[in-house]
Order: sequence, then C-alpha cells, then structure tokens
Amino acid sequence: MPTVLERLRSWFTVDMGIDLGTCNTLVAVRGEGIVLNEPSVVAVKKGTNEVLNNGAAVGWMAKEMLGKTPGSISAVRPLKDGVISDFEITEAMLAYFIHKVNGRASWFGKPRVVISIPSGITEVEKRAVLDSAERAGAGRIYLLEEPVAAAIGAGLPFVEPTASMIVDIGGGTTEVAIMSLADIAVCESVRVAGDDLDEAIISHMKKTYNMMIGEQSAERIKIEIGSAAPVGEETTMEVRGRDMVSGLPRKMVLSSEEVREALQEPVGAIVEAVTRTLERAEPELAADLVENGITLAGGGALLRGIDAIISSATGLDVRVAEDPLTAVARGTAIFLENIEKLKGNLQSDTDI
Ligand SMILES: Nc1ncnc2c1ncn2[C@@H]1O[C@H](COP(=O)(O)OP(=O)(O)OP(=O)(O)O)[C@@H](O)[C@H]1O
Ligand SMILES: [Mg+2]
Repeated sequence: MPTVLERLRSWFTVDMGIDLGTCNTLVAVRGEGIVLNEPSVVAVKKGTNEVLNNGAAVGWMAKEMLGKTPGSISAVRPLKDGVISDFEITEAMLAYFIHKVNGRASWFGKPRVVISIPSGITEVEKRAVLDSAERAGAGRIYLLEEPVAAAIGAGLPFVEPTASMIVDIGGGTTEVAIMSLADIAVCESVRVAGDDLDEAIISHMKKTYNMMIGEQSAERIKIEIGSAAPVGEETTMEVRGRDMVSGLPRKMVLSSEEVREALQEPVGAIVEAVTRTLERAEPELAADLVENGITLAGGGALLRGIDAIISSATGLDVRVAEDPLTAVARGTAIFLENIEKLKGNLQSDTDI
C-alpha cells in the first residue's frame, strides 16, 4: 500500500518518457502524450563547454541564438551515433528539458523517468545515460530499449504470441528488432542512419564537383529530393556551397537520380541490417512476418522509397508507422501507463 505521502507525490510529480535522440529529444508525459519536441542541440561559448543563457540555450532556443550571434557561439550536438559523446552538455540539455516539463511540480519531488536507449549500447554508455539523467534532476530512472519503445508506439502486437518487426531509422543509429510475447527475439543495431545519408551527400558534392556544402544543406537536399529507390517523378534542386578551388560561393543544380546514387551505400547498409536480422530469426517467427510484415519508424522512415527497397530485398510487406518521428516517445508514454505489466522489459532501474 502506498503511503499518503507517496500518493500525494504521485499526483503532483510528472512521470515522463524521454526519447534522447541524436537529432531530436522528445518528452512524453503519462496521460498527456508528447509535451516537448526539440532538436538535441546546445549553444555554447565558442571553444568552451560553457552553456549560454545560464544553461537555457538548448533546443529551439539554441537554434534561434545561433542565427542571431553566429560569431561567438557554436552549436553542439552532445549525442553521436545514438550515444552520449559529451557528458556535461548532455546533462545540461536534459536538466533544461526535465525542468521545462516538470516545472513547478519539481518541489514535490523528482520525476520518474523512462529513457529510451539503443539496444546495442555498452554498460559504460548505459551508465552515462543514467548518470546524466540523475544529475539532471530525475528521480527514479528506467532504461527502455528503443526498438521496444518504437514497437509499442507504432501499435505493433508487442505482447501477443505473434512476431512483428520494427526498423527504427534515426539520425545516428538504425535499430532492427523482431519481437514476440513482449520480448525482443532477435535484434541488431547499426550505427548507420540519417546523419550518414547527409554525409554521403556532402562527400558526393566534394568528390564530383569540388564543392563544399554544410550539414544543414545536405539534410535539406536529402529531405527535398533524396530517395532510396526510384518512386514518383524525378526532380532537381538548386544547391549553394563553396567552391573548393576558388574558395568562392557557387550554386548548381542537382538531380534526384544523382542524390539517390550518392545515398546508395548507406541505404544498402541499412537494408543489409534488416536482411541479416531476418536470417537470424527462428522459422516460426519468420513465418509470422509473412503475415505481419515490417514496420518502419524514426525520421529515416520518411526517406522516399525506403519502404519499397526494404520490401524488394526481403519479399515482405513494409509500412511506415504513423508519425514515425514520434513513435519512440509515444511508446515510452504508453509504457509508463502500463509500467506494472511491462516492467520485465526494463533494461535497468536505478531503484532496484
Ligand atoms: N522527410 C524526411 N526524409 C528523410 N529523412 C528525414 C526526413 N525527416 C527527417 N529525416 C531525418 O531523420 C533523422 C532524425 O530522425 P529521429 O528524430 O528519429 O532521430 P533520433 O531519434 O534523434 O536519432 P537516434 O534514434 O539515432 O538517436 C535525421 O537524420 C533527419 O534528417
Ligand atoms: Mg531515435
């Protein structure tokens, strides 16, 4: 039986699920859905680790500041390949987001937090997530594997005795998992995802045209005219950058066929991760997938033709989850609502 104090506390503190992503961080609150969705970016004083605005130059605010005072500040993305690469800055970012969501309720106690993590991370990487969340003000912290969160968020029959498959293509990692009976049967996590697609475009521009373009331009090209397979009409786009020989600004027109060609290698690596995982599945599970197909989540699921290319490589039906960018965060919130039932899926819990 919870004590009166515990019950009071549970009324006033918010339980939150956090999708701490390489590109975007989302926070979902039990019973409310997604309440925060911001880029995983922090503005720091150039050349230092000092977060600007008393630790508040985070997310959208950081992006806004960057546009206004570009000379003296730089943007840092504290996660790389799905894991924390800068501990202090991740902590500052989490503290800001947790405080923003928990707000005035914070004096009642620290929030219970479920954080999703890639399935392939090491103990040291897990510890880094736990430590930063704890120092950022979280009370109880639970770690939940991203494919599980994505599957729940995408509405897959996760707890039923039938296999389903999720492919979460994020910015830093692609997580592939086959699940049945509320458990992961086979999974694979590769550090090839959206960021690598952007890099492939940057390197294509360098090699083919001696032209330097920035990460944001590369991402824009990918989103506007990029594709994994020929679907729909081919288009073109004007691209601006700097000529590597003359050092001067330059513009040119890029075609969608050419971008598809440039994306072939990282897209191939993602498709291979899917086929490798399928090859490792027990025949019974594989048989279920003929019926249930593959579901795609994460921002990378929005790349044109990615469903078609995975479908032709596997012979299975492929569908993109509804609102794939928020599937993991929505999954953490649903998980929180059913925490007693699904507790067995927790990776670790600071309270145990
Ligand atoms: N329409 C689109 N077409 C192609 N890619 C897209 C589109 N929209 C977003 N993306 C890409 O999706 C990626 C971000 O997805 P998401 O927010 O799921 O990643 P993340 O959760 O932050 O990363 P990770 O899970 O790897 O830590 C970025 O690489 C972004 O460029
Ligand atoms: Mg993600």
